[in-house]
Amino acid sequence: MARIVITSGPTRQYLDPVRYLTNASSGRMGAALAQAALDLGHEVIVISGPVSIRYPSTAQVVDVVTTQEMLDATKLAFENADGLVGAAAPCDYMPKQVETHKLSKTGDVLHLALIETPDIIAKLGTAKRRDQWVVGFALETEDVRFRAIVKMSRKCCDMIVSNSASAMNSEDNSVEVILRDGTILEQITGTKPSVANGILSHIQKHLIERAR
Ligand code: C5P
Repeated sequence: MARIVITSGPTRQYLDPVRYLTNASSGRMGAALAQAALDLGHEVIVISGPVSIRYPSTAQVVDVVTTQEMLDATKLAFENADGLVGAAAPCDYMPKQVETHKLSKTGDVLHLALIETPDIIAKLGTAKRRDQWVVGFALETEDVRFRAIVKMSRKCCDMIVSNSASAMNSEDNSVEVILRDGTILEQITGTKPSVANGILSHIQKHLIERAR
């Protein structure tokens, strides 16, 4: 049995107490991966941004809001875990300044200065121990396979799942599973639960069993 951390869902970055930046990630892929991992007998810890879906009741769920909070919670959980799957879509930018009061309309253009948030998978991929593995996701609209492979190498992932933009907030997904040496393991299309089972079977074979 392995202990697997899964990041899931979007994050939020507040501009003021009531407005925030986010994206359309639903957390469905993370939930499907959690179920697939549990079905294989693994222990699952989901680090989730705000979502309206439910995670499997036998998974441990840690709720977070911002990308920094997701990084902190994932880092802590990963210390005692075998692997990490980055299925979340964390906000890549946050306002440079967060207003303490609600911004009032002035009739003028509002200029928003944004700074980058930390990249969770890249930080933990770079710092992982030799006995740990990290699986990233990539969502690209052009040069899909090439960019996924570049991303896997840049973020020090052991495997990357390249998925289509249509996966966002959808019931279905179409992915390509790529191993760290560039081997294309499989192209899988179907519902998120069936795609998740396929991804987990590759994780099981190439990352979990190989580590034993
Ligand atoms: O660079 P990009 O956002 O396309 O990379 C996607 C992968 O990186 C996913 O596995 C996603 O969960 C992860 N990621 C992250 N932290 C970020 C941005 C992306 O862990 N701030």
